[in-house]
Amino acid sequence: MSSRLDWISNPAGPLRGEILVPGDKSISHRAIMLAAVAEGASRISGFLEGDDTRGTAAIFRALGVTIETPSASLRVVHGVGLHGLKKPDTALDCGNSGTGMRLLAGLLAGQRFDSMLTGDESLLRRPMRRVIEPLNAMQARVGAEPGGVPPLRIGGGATLHGIACTPPIASAQVKSAILLAGLYADGETDVREVHPTRDYTERMLAAFGWPIAFEPGRARLCGGHRLHATDVAVPADFSSAAFFIVAATLVPGSELTLRGIGLNPRRTGLLTALRLMGADIREVDAREQGGERVADLEVRHAALHGIEVPVGLVPDMIDEFPILFIAAAAAEGMTTVRSAAELRIKESDRIAVMAKGLVELGSSVEETPDGAIIRGGALGGGTVDSAGDHRCAMSFAVAGAIARDAVRIADCANVATSFPGFVERACALGLALHEATTH
Ligand code: S3P
Repeated sequence: MSSRLDWISNPAGPLRGEILVPGDKSISHRAIMLAAVAEGASRISGFLEGDDTRGTAAIFRALGVTIETPSASLRVVHGVGLHGLKKPDTALDCGNSGTGMRLLAGLLAGQRFDSMLTGDESLLRRPMRRVIEPLNAMQARVGAEPGGVPPLRIGGGATLHGIACTPPIASAQVKSAILLAGLYADGETDVREVHPTRDYTERMLAAFGWPIAFEPGRARLCGGHRLHATDVAVPADFSSAAFFIVAATLVPGSELTLRGIGLNPRRTGLLTALRLMGADIREVDAREQGGERVADLEVRHAALHGIEVPVGLVPDMIDEFPILFIAAAAAEGMTTVRSAAELRIKESDRIAVMAKGLVELGSSVEETPDGAIIRGGALGGGTVDSAGDHRCAMSFAVAGAIARDAVRIADCANVATSFPGFVERACALGLALHEATTH
């Protein structure tokens, strides 16, 4: 009989102390990928020990790359060069990870061998035409199931040609897939964005010695170069920090320090939104780590008020809407989210999952096709369903801390994709969260 992992989050006292959250997921994926096709050994420290990023490492092992784990959060990747990957024996399983699948599609499109990318139930529902169309415009041979969903079949031996394109949606995954295929293409690959997105692929290509020109909203490179092994120090993941930033803001008496958080401006839209709502978050000891700006964040409890989330912030906080919904539900007045239809095709339909759960807890939330209108007020207890979405599960755990009664959250196992050890760390800071397995 299969078992399901639920959490129970009880009303909690203030969050106190300090926390180091795990390494950045986006950067960890990219570090494994580029190190694998670089020449020489690269050391990746601060690597996220999550199911998604470990899954990407396992895929490169299946592609013939030796990856050592000298200690937790450390990987030494023995790169095989751009053309050194081996044909895998089976389909490559990306698990729950859209980033893994979409970026790999770009990288594998340039190989001499055929490959197939598959994933879990959630990933098999996610749209892949957004990468298939530009890759095939580069003369790749990428096919999907009817409806443009995985598994993806990638034909080897294609001669790729660089393209100039502007994908219709702002997506770092799409941009990255095109750039990774561009490493293998003749001529120039030029990607313009309708709105700038996280530029980790661009920065990391430069760090591995690939000539690339980039600025917010545009990246250009040519094929025919080599990647040289380099060491990568992965900063702490802002998206994982976000749950504790909001928890400390909402629970009275809280005073929390989060150490060494990556503050790439394309990731920190939530900080801007929370400050507009009245949050008290300070950046302390700002420094550079591995080419990224990091700082400690000091968060104190503050009363929030609702806002209209500026649409220009949406791509910069795309992963933070589940927790923003909780902040909005606890704020005074109304919060409006618009232009965020992408949320409906993440690991779950995050607008529907968060709206349903918050209504269950007594909030007033009205869904719109591309967002929601949330009226703040007190939260009660109840049972909510995370729909197997890691970020929804962690967001509801924060809701439990400020609710009148216990909140039971169904289907939390996927938190391990991005934040292993969340429950222990949350409890160490003062949340009253525990696991409950059901059969
Ligand atoms: C990511 C890009 C974003 C984000 C995802 C990670 C990345 O997806 O939601 O969690 O690492 O490039 P989109 O490119 O689909 O917006």
